[in-house]
Amino acid sequence: MIQFDLKNLGAQNLNGNIPAYIAAVKTRKQGFYKIVDDKKTVKEVLKFAKIARKKYKHFVLLGIGGSSLGPICLEQSFKHLFKEKKLIVLDNIDPVLLAETEEVIDYKTTLFLVVTKSGTTPETMSQYFYFRDKVNKKKLDPKKHFVFITDPEKGLLRKIAKEEKIPSFEIPENVGGRFSVLTPVGLLPAALLDIKIEKMLKGAQKMRDQFLSTNLKTNLPFQLAKIQYELAKKGKSINVMIPYAQKLSRMADWYRQLLAESIGKKFDNEQEIVNVGITPVNALGVTDQHSQLQLYNEGPNDKLFIFIEVEKLKPILKIPKAHKGNPDLDFLDKNITFNQLLQIEKDATASALTKNSRPNFTIKIDEINEENIGALFMLFECATAFLGEMFNINTFDQPGVELSKKLTKEALLRL
Ligand code: PA5
Repeated sequence: MIQFDLKNLGAQNLNGNIPAYIAAVKTRKQGFYKIVDDKKTVKEVLKFAKIARKKYKHFVLLGIGGSSLGPICLEQSFKHLFKEKKLIVLDNIDPVLLAETEEVIDYKTTLFLVVTKSGTTPETMSQYFYFRDKVNKKKLDPKKHFVFITDPEKGLLRKIAKEEKIPSFEIPENVGGRFSVLTPVGLLPAALLDIKIEKMLKGAQKMRDQFLSTNLKTNLPFQLAKIQYELAKKGKSINVMIPYAQKLSRMADWYRQLLAESIGKKFDNEQEIVNVGITPVNALGVTDQHSQLQLYNEGPNDKLFIFIEVEKLKPILKIPKAHKGNPDLDFLDKNITFNQLLQIEKDATASALTKNSRPNFTIKIDEINEENIGALFMLFECATAFLGEMFNINTFDQPGVELSKKLTKEALLRL
């Protein structure tokens, strides 16, 4: 269950012509909100994962941006923070990542997930070449050590998959990288980690239905987008996302890419130069109270703060009285839990921001479970789609990223 607590936001105009915005999003012909209905893919993913979970000790995901941030978020949300990782995600090309991955895996019991929509991203393809070469040299069967997640038709990976019969899954043609977490991009790694993907999709589906409803009270994606838009118009064009849950810190990372790449645009729909955008910043409660809060309370008043709160954070752990007679620490002598302390600190932080006229609001979930995580993904994706229409830009392209990809390739070809 997801709810908004807007009491610290001040008076904002959250009204708008929802049907017109829904119609505008629909004209973009995107599939991100329809994929939750694709039961066939879910079945295939579950079938593949059931066998692979028994067969392999490690899953190494090669990918970057929209192809890696969702899986990282899912792993962190549901898996142990410190035990040895079954899923290793290489979302960079720093050689230390490849070398240290090789130190912990055994090729014979490793499955590499190569995730790239385009099949031409230099980072992902160079990682693939590296591990493919190793698999070849070890005379292992590539069909047993690689699975590709890529465009249904285009790109080198699709070609190799067809030619060599390497198992593969599809990222639908009308779903872009940063909107792909509920396709096999996120579903397969999740299922390999035994995360309940059907429940995740159920949560996402409910949120999608809210997105398509014209009732402002229940349309949380519209409310979120409108809050962001109204405050951006008032000069609060930095959005700081602060989950008060260690396991959700990577959700803020995933969202950072979604918001930055979708809304940061030079041209509007009429091809006028507008240079719009909202700058996403990640923070983590309570850690960053001791890192950034000074700036947030007293620095430039150019931010909207989005808290994420988990009502039933688990486990519940008491703060014991290990030493008696310390008047300086009397405030800890209250027979409270870490859970209560975290909540009290969050409320105090939100109150301090409010006292300093810094707009903030809270997205509340009852617990970290598959349904809620699926719903959060869909909430942010749908809100971002609305936000793009409010800014009158194309949410779904990324010419700024493409330019850097193009220049990298040109520089490599000149070598
Ligand atoms: O959202 C996007 O489209 C990008 O961030 C991509 O996910 C990223 O550039 C990786 O691209 P690809 O999946 O084609 O390798």
